[in-house]
Amino acid sequence: MQVMSESTAPGMLSDQAVARYHDQGFLHVPQLLTPAEVAEFLEEGKRHFALEEARTHGPNEGVRTHELDEGLVVEWVNHAGLDNDVLRRLSCHPRIAEVAETLAGGPLRLFKSDLYRKKAESTLTPIHHDEVFFPFSARSALTAWVALVDVPAEKGCLSFIPGSHRVVVPPSADKDPMDALVEAEDPFSRWPELAYQPFVTVPVRAGDVTFHHGRIAHWAGANRTDSTRFSLITIYMDAAATFQATSIHNLLNPDDPDLGGHRPGQQLDGDRFPLIANGG
Ligand code: NI
Repeated sequence: MQVMSESTAPGMLSDQAVARYHDQGFLHVPQLLTPAEVAEFLEEGKRHFALEEARTHGPNEGVRTHELDEGLVVEWVNHAGLDNDVLRRLSCHPRIAEVAETLAGGPLRLFKSDLYRKKAESTLTPIHHDEVFFPFSARSALTAWVALVDVPAEKGCLSFIPGSHRVVVPPSADKDPMDALVEAEDPFSRWPELAYQPFVTVPVRAGDVTFHHGRIAHWAGANRTDSTRFSLITIYMDAAATFQATSIHNLLNPDDPDLGGHRPGQQLDGDRFPLIANGG
């Protein structure tokens, strides 16, 4: 039985854990947050959702929803860390940042963090990879999935296909966005061998973080419990990442096509995209 979790103390990621991340494309690090931190961030997350629901918004602002014929998948607040100091602090949390930079092998910047809630009876989050949604060019990018409640399998934790990050290649930036989205959510049609690879389901406790590569194929189960799953999903990119306009980004973010006035090829930096060492 392979041990999938890294239980070494924060800041002490073993070489084996880093090697396993590169080999498998994900790593589960238990208890990066203390119970007191979890309580603070969960309370703020719930407050932030309520605040966003009460505000008046333009299209694609506020609480976004992903719905399929099968039902509600998930709801989220885009860029929740941008205007909320508490969630921003969680996005650049020193222990999370240290693990992320160790896995990436160099300094990282915050790209964004989104606050997610998957209500009771929400349906499965379809398989996909994250990099297709990144409007930047980077040597490395990874996602930190921060559990703010306990997430056993029946509450919709993540599953990964180990090693798929070495197979999956995102579509070109100018591909028709609907075609690109279909391809992103149907990797088995482009890489049929992935359908026959074993996958790993990773239940997590509140305060655990899973880190995953931008290209790994993953999904989240349905929430078959009677309570809401809360998590913060943060995306980090290497410190030299540059803006790259993509058709999918433009389709999904018509209110923010150039990330606050960036030209293609321009470095993403400044207050919106801080270096995460030393808490952002
Ligand atoms: Ni994802």
